[in-house]
Amino acid sequence: MTLRPVVTTKIYLTVPDRIKKISGDKIHNYKSEMIMKINRRDFIRKTSLTAAGAGLFTILPSSVWGAMVAPSDQINVGLIGCRGHGFSILRHHLSNEGVHCVALCDVDENVLNSRAATVKEINGDEPRLFGDYRRMLELDEMDAVIIGTPDHWHCLNFVHACEAGKDIYVEKPLGKTIAECAIMVKAANQYNNVVQVGQQQRSNTGFLETVEIVKAGDIGKLRKIEIWANFNYGLGANFTENSEVPDGVDYNFWLGPAPERPFNQARFHGSWRHFWDYGGGLFSDWGVHLLDMALWPDDLVGGPDKVMSYAANTSERSGMRETFDTMSVIYPKKDYVIQYDMTAGIEVGRWDQPYGVAYIGDNGTIVVNRHGYSLQPEYDNSNNRQRAETRSVSTGGDAHGPHVKNFLDCIISRNTPRCTPEMGYAAALHAHIPNIAGRVGETHLEWDEENMRFTNSEAANELVTPVYRAPWKLPQ
Ligand SMILES: NC(=O)c1ccc[n+]([C@@H]2O[C@H](COP(=O)([O-])OP(=O)(O)OC[C@H]3O[C@@H](n4cnc5c(N)ncnc54)[C@H](O)[C@@H]3O)[C@@H](O)[C@H]2O)c1
Repeated sequence: MTLRPVVTTKIYLTVPDRIKKISGDKIHNYKSEMIMKINRRDFIRKTSLTAAGAGLFTILPSSVWGAMVAPSDQINVGLIGCRGHGFSILRHHLSNEGVHCVALCDVDENVLNSRAATVKEINGDEPRLFGDYRRMLELDEMDAVIIGTPDHWHCLNFVHACEAGKDIYVEKPLGKTIAECAIMVKAANQYNNVVQVGQQQRSNTGFLETVEIVKAGDIGKLRKIEIWANFNYGLGANFTENSEVPDGVDYNFWLGPAPERPFNQARFHGSWRHFWDYGGGLFSDWGVHLLDMALWPDDLVGGPDKVMSYAANTSERSGMRETFDTMSVIYPKKDYVIQYDMTAGIEVGRWDQPYGVAYIGDNGTIVVNRHGYSLQPEYDNSNNRQRAETRSVSTGGDAHGPHVKNFLDCIISRNTPRCTPEMGYAAALHAHIPNIAGRVGETHLEWDEENMRFTNSEAANELVTPVYRAPWKLPQ
C-alpha cells in the first residue's frame, strides 16, 4: 500500500487591482503576487491568523478567495467508522462554523448511505463515500479525520492518517493492545499531526475544576482515588446464532487484522466491545475515561508499575461476552492508591451514581462525574470547624462539544489539544494491564515500561503485541 506524504499545494496569491482599491492600505504589506508552497493545514493556520489580525476576510470577497484556493477559513473533515459514536463526533464538528464533511468511510454500505443522507440534511454537504479508508486518506482537500471504528482498527487507521498528513480525532481507547498504543504515540510524534484523543472529560468543566481543587491541596493530602463504573450494557448483547453476513457489509474488511470468525450479530455493530478480538469490555470502554481522570492530578504518564486485580464473569444473567463483567483493581501510586471497581449489569453505584470518581483527601472527598461534583469536607473536632469548604456544582453533562472545539482550534493554531496520545496511552495501559492479568489468570502484574514487558508473567507478555491477520501488518 502506498500513501502519499504530506500534501503540498502550490498557491498563487494574486491581489487584483479591484481589490487593492477596495481595501486601500490594509493590504499594502502583502506583495501583489506571492508564490507559496505550503501544506493546506499550514495555509489554514497562516491565513486564519493573518486574517484575524488584518481583517482580510472582510476585505476580500469570498468569490475571489474561492477562485484562488479552497476557502481557507474552512476545515474539511472526514470520518472513518460512521455508525455510532464517530458520527456523533462528526455532528459536533459540523456544529462549528466553517467545518465541512468532505468524506465518509464505512465497510457497511447501509450505514454509509444513511449517514451521507443525514450529513446532507445537517448542512447540505455531499461527502465523497468510501469503503476503503486508505483511498479516503488520499483526498488532498481533507484536513482532518475522525476515527470512529471499533478498537481493533484504531492503530492502522491512525498510523495511515499520520502518514497522509491528516490531523486526527481518535476515539478511545487509543489502541486495543499495549503495543498498538505505543506505535500510535510514536507515529503522532514522528509526523507531528495535531491529535485529540476522545477522552472528553479533559474538556468537562466539572472534572477540570475538580482536578484543580485536588491539585491546589483543598482536600488536603490525597490518599485514595476511587473509580467505579456499573452499566447494564457491560453484559453484552442477547444470545444469537451465527448467521449470513448482511447485504452491503464487507465483513472481511470489518474484521481487518482480527482473526477470521463466522458472522454473528452479537460480535458486530456496537456489541463487538465484549470480545477480545475487537475490544476490552466495559473495563476498557469506561476505564480509560475515568482512569484518565485519576491520572490527571499528578499528570502521571506511562503504564502502571504494578496492578493487583480480580477479574471474572460472575453474573448469571445472559449476554454474549468474553470480556469480564466483574473487576476490582488496585494501582499503588507513590503515596496514594487508585482503586477501580466495576460490576457490569448493575446500574446502582457508590454515592448513588452508576459511575464516577472520588478523590479522597485528609480534609475532604470530592465526588465527580459528567454531571457535576460535590465536595464533602471532613470535620475537625478539636477546632470545631470543617476542614474544607462544602461545594456542590452541576455541570452540563457530556463535553464532546468543547472537546471537539478544542481540536478545531488546535488545527488552526497548531497547539497541542487537551488530550494527547500520551494521555491516551497512559489511560489505555491502566485498562489493558488488569484485563491481561485476568485473561492469563494472574492477580498481580508488574510492568517494566522501559522494556515494554511484564517482569513476572511470560503468559502476560504474549498479549502485549497483537498478531495481525494477513494481509494486514502491524505498523512499525
Ligand atoms: N468517547 C466516548 O464517549 C465514546 C462513546 C462510545 C464509543 N466510543 C468509541 O468509539 C469507537 C466506535 O464505537 P461505536 O460504539 O460507535 O461502534 P459501532 O460498531 O457502532 O460503529 C463502528 C463503525 O465502524 C465501521 N467500521 C468497522 N471497521 C471499519 C473499517 N475498517 N473502515 C471503515 N469503517 C469501519 C462499522 O461498520 C461501524 O459502522 C470505539 O472505539 C468506542 O470505544 C467512544
